[in-house]
Amino acid sequence: MSELTTSIASIDPAETHLIRHRILRPNQDLSASVYPLDEAPRTLHAGCFMAGNLVGIASIFHEAPNPQIEQKLPAGPYPEAWRLRGLAVVEAARGVGVGAHLIKAVMDHAGSFQDEGMIWCKVRLDALDYLARYRFEAVGEVFENESLGPHRIMIRPLPAQP
Ligand SMILES: CC(C)(COP(=O)(O)OP(=O)(O)OC[C@H]1O[C@@H](n2cnc3c(N)ncnc32)[C@H](O)[C@@H]1OP(=O)(O)O)[C@@H](O)C(=O)NCCC(=O)NCCS
Repeated sequence: MSELTTSIASIDPAETHLIRHRILRPNQDLSASVYPLDEAPRTLHAGCFMAGNLVGIASIFHEAPNPQIEQKLPAGPYPEAWRLRGLAVVEAARGVGVGAHLIKAVMDHAGSFQDEGMIWCKVRLDALDYLARYRFEAVGEVFENESLGPHRIMIRPLPAQP
């Protein structure tokens, strides 16, 4: 971790939209950065602050994979599934552990509801190795995700042990 002080906090859904848009969906309308479960009761949006500025975000939703996703997974069902979504760190704050803190925060959140389950996410190919550091495993074939380029599904079990 850098000497810069960072803090993690739960943030409002609306606070995620600009970073999502800028880092993850720059070629889409801002409305594409509003996700369906943003306001759901068990959702957590974690924000990482550095010198008072929001520099990274990650969200986790209690969301079962749809049948199209589920067919890529080892045999389920997955009743207690959580989805990691919208992990993004602004360029100037990368490489000092912000992403690591965010992943821990969202996994702790899911783990606070139950001891067992799984976390899944759609991951762009250039981030597969990053998520693999946290025991996420790629499953199924490469697919085109919306207009965001090639992705794979990654999964990892709860409990939250980063
Ligand atoms: C991927 C991302 C979240 C990492 O955030 P971060 O705060 O820089 O990561 P951390 O500081 O926790 O970790 C840094 C370490 O991860 C490595 N790393 C960072 N991005 C990586 C990547 N895409 N693939 C492999 N390793 C990566 C760094 O080399 C560094 O390694 P070191 O610890 O051995 O020096 C950030 O680069 C980002 O927002 N990227 C663009 C959006 C994105 O890809 N999001 C994930 C979508 S699924």
